[in-house]
Amino acid sequence: MKFFVDTADVEAIAELNDLGMVDGVTTNPSLILKSGRDIIEVTKEICSIVSGPVSAEVVALKAEDMIAEGRKLAEIAPNIAVKVPLTWDGLKTCKVLSSEGKMVNVTLCFSANQALLAAKAGATFISPFIGRLDDINLDGLELISDIREIYDNYGFDTQILAASIRTANHVTQCALIGADVMTAPPAVIKAMASHVLTDKGLDQFMKDWAKTGQKII
Ligand code: E4P
Repeated sequence: MKFFVDTADVEAIAELNDLGMVDGVTTNPSLILKSGRDIIEVTKEICSIVSGPVSAEVVALKAEDMIAEGRKLAEIAPNIAVKVPLTWDGLKTCKVLSSEGKMVNVTLCFSANQALLAAKAGATFISPFIGRLDDINLDGLELISDIREIYDNYGFDTQILAASIRTANHVTQCALIGADVMTAPPAVIKAMASHVLTDKGLDQFMKDWAKTGQKII
């Protein structure tokens, strides 16, 4: 399973990248706002750190304008994946940009039918949003599972990029289902290292070690 980090925070990306935890990055307009940086500048910096796909999202709503924005974003670096919303105009944009050989990430996916359309339009990645479905009492993980089954039934090569991941357990479940990629905020990736029994065990080892009176160095 590939790990993308869902942030435009360059320091956080660099820290995880040094550990080999970053296969790519996803950003969106809200994450650009949070970074307080210029979209072109920050995306260029991210692409200089990470060699895998870096998603940069268009903000126009009409296909013609989305295509122009997508082409401009794709000029930033060869590893840009143009992110487009799952609207009819977004699908048109996906078809045009993917036909030009650009990577396209179709985002804001909330149904299996939407995922089917994105695959038909040549998407490199489909981003179903787990957390936002859970927020309205629907089952985000079930959607990942449905898309996996449908894509496998027909051999679509669009990669399932599980998004809107809020917990470490979401990551486990996505890995079990067979999502190709997951994107999560740095805090969720770090939380994957935590276990109450690890903390408890380490605490006991430290207490016993102190009693030995020994030192390793
Ligand atoms: C993915 O590409 C999105 O940027 C992100 O996962 C959305 O997550 P959220 O629902 O927690 O904002």
